[in-house]
Amino acid sequence: MVWLGESPAPRAGWVANPPRLLARLELERATKSEYELSCLREASRIGARGHQAAASAFREGGSEFDIHQAFLGATSQNETELPYGSIVALNEHCATLHYQLRDRTAPQKLNSLLIDAGACASGYASDITRTWAANPGHFAALVQGMDQLQLRLCGQVRAGIDWRELHMEAHRLIASLLREADVLRMSPEEAVASGVSAVFLPHGLGHLLGLQVHDVGGFRDLPEGEPIPRPPGHPALRLTRRLLPGMVVTVEPGIYFIDSLLRQLRAGAHAAQVNWALVDELRPCGGIRIEDNVVVRADGGENLTRAAFAALTST
Ligand code: GLY
Ligand code: MN
Ligand code: MN
Repeated sequence: MVWLGESPAPRAGWVANPPRLLARLELERATKSEYELSCLREASRIGARGHQAAASAFREGGSEFDIHQAFLGATSQNETELPYGSIVALNEHCATLHYQLRDRTAPQKLNSLLIDAGACASGYASDITRTWAANPGHFAALVQGMDQLQLRLCGQVRAGIDWRELHMEAHRLIASLLREADVLRMSPEEAVASGVSAVFLPHGLGHLLGLQVHDVGGFRDLPEGEPIPRPPGHPALRLTRRLLPGMVVTVEPGIYFIDSLLRQLRAGAHAAQVNWALVDELRPCGGIRIEDNVVVRADGGENLTRAAFAALTST
């Protein structure tokens, strides 16, 4: 007899969590049934409602706490029902990747909001990030550039592509955006090869999504196979497989101004190829991430998040 659950098994003779069986189940879970997709679609719809309310609370000058409350109110889900602790970050806090403090008072001067928050539907998660600029200027232009770049990446999601290649494409596009914005003064190829692009994007392009926010089954094509390695220099990538129809992925490129990483860049061989005056201007905005949830199809992707936002504005 096999037992799936907390080890040890509750009865003598039962085998707890045999690794081969777990690996098989994880592979099954990586591709979703139509029922699971309908739950994920609903989770996106609820999440989009929350994001719409959060953006309004930001425009009204709300604190991180107020914006979080607006998200909860609009989704009608409490914190324990959410798939993960919402990241609600204003200004410099947008540079902290899993910022959780939620200040009760708004800063004197509002520059930016990064909100990474999802909702649950029958146990399935959405995982959505939006970034808003409070004022026109360089940061607002970067947010707009990131939105276009993110849509371009979503447009490349289809069955058969190697996720590692799409991750590297994201780095090339981000390096190009930083060069066009005059943050970097080096070719995109050099920025990626030297690791400079990873200073601004230290996390992976995305991951599988399902019952878990970081869903299982991202590293093996066969239950008995070895894990498929991450690209060298990209240790945070959570998905290394070729995409299959029915997988659901997040596409979440970002650009961040993280003091500890910038300090290392400033002390390194590429410091002279960075426009530090512009970096200093952008640091009070913290960073940008735009994250959608996309179903992999044979001939493209179904963007659950964009569809959910579009349905909100058409009603
Ligand atoms: N919300 C966690 C993530 O985007 O991976
Ligand atoms: Mn995510
Ligand atoms: Mn997220």
